[in-house]
Amino acid sequence: MIMIDILKNEFSQWFDSKSPVVFKSPGRINLIGEHTDYNGGFVLPASIDKAIYFAIAFNDDNVFRFVSYDLNDEYVTPIDKIEPCDKQWANYLLGIIAQFIGDGKKVKGFDCIFGGDIPIGAGMSSSAALDCGLAFALNDMQSFGYSKPDLAKFAQKAEHEYVGIMSGIMDQFVVLHGKKDKVIKLDTRSLEYELFSVDLSNHIFILVNTGVKHSLASSEYNKRRYECEKGVEILQKYNQNIKSLRDVNLNFIQQHKMDLSNVIYNRCSYVIEENMRLERAYDALINGDFTEFGNQMYGSHEGLKEKYEVSCDELDLLVDIAKNTKGVIGARMMGGGFGGCTINLVEKNAVSIFKNSILAQYKTPEGEEPQIIEAAIENGTQKIGT
Ligand code: GLA
Repeated sequence: MIMIDILKNEFSQWFDSKSPVVFKSPGRINLIGEHTDYNGGFVLPASIDKAIYFAIAFNDDNVFRFVSYDLNDEYVTPIDKIEPCDKQWANYLLGIIAQFIGDGKKVKGFDCIFGGDIPIGAGMSSSAALDCGLAFALNDMQSFGYSKPDLAKFAQKAEHEYVGIMSGIMDQFVVLHGKKDKVIKLDTRSLEYELFSVDLSNHIFILVNTGVKHSLASSEYNKRRYECEKGVEILQKYNQNIKSLRDVNLNFIQQHKMDLSNVIYNRCSYVIEENMRLERAYDALINGDFTEFGNQMYGSHEGLKEKYEVSCDELDLLVDIAKNTKGVIGARMMGGGFGGCTINLVEKNAVSIFKNSILAQYKTPEGEEPQIIEAAIENGTQKIGT
């Protein structure tokens, strides 16, 4: 049975309300541009064919009822009692409702069940799929009239306020704006973006899940953000026009290296270099130069490992295996880090060589085979219908 049918069936078992509307909200890959989004930089993500589905209908009971099908867990709250709770998955949803209410909207009681095939904690942004999916669904069902960028900002704020992760805007933006077969080049400062095609007739993006659950909430993510802000604060003494690391070039930061601690210098120079790599990677993709694009991916991983220090042994091992496997063009860790997935650009005729090479050389910390996920680029959050 496909997920939509499973959820509709489960919906009628959990709830009394009738005929739900179904929505779909995807995960994402990020080709390059990691940890640049909260520094006013660029990112190069795309929404993919792994998604969370929602079946949702209004009720007459003045309550919000959520069921996570995958976790077999339920959370219920009266509509006038919206506050963070001790179920982290529910906080992504409560945070969205809080944004609508905070903006003066009355959100009607509803019943909602959701489930899908985005691995949780794998750096594929199951969290943005979840909060953007609900934001999109409520905006549609109550005809609130918000734009997609508005919804992306709501979802980002929901994560800040209800989950405690000071995430950038990349995930929420791409989940809502993604288009089939297109990559987004997003300027996270202005939110201007370009959707462009990549010729993937001979290549494929493959994700390998370390099986190490990243825990962004575990403070390292917020710490990196703080370190970058600290760098900006120090550099502002020399040029008040600097608003974010976007406004700093390598020359400038090298000139002021003595004013920064080693750690802050490394964090900030990584971000500046990653923006430069992204520009080179983008040009390479547009020109069909996959080898050059792959080199930028490897460079990105090196920076994330050595200077930004958000990689881990398992991610490094997977990248090394990829590098030594014939037909792999580029590889790097993807997303926040400390676990989750690597993203690998592989020649289509080398897919089985790649898979065999990974399976022969890598086991998860539990001693299991890692998940290997072929990612196709698909449309962003959408209504499926009744
Ligand atoms: C997580 C965050 C994003 C971004 C990436 C790192 O996915 O949600 O905003 O910062 O990490 O690039």
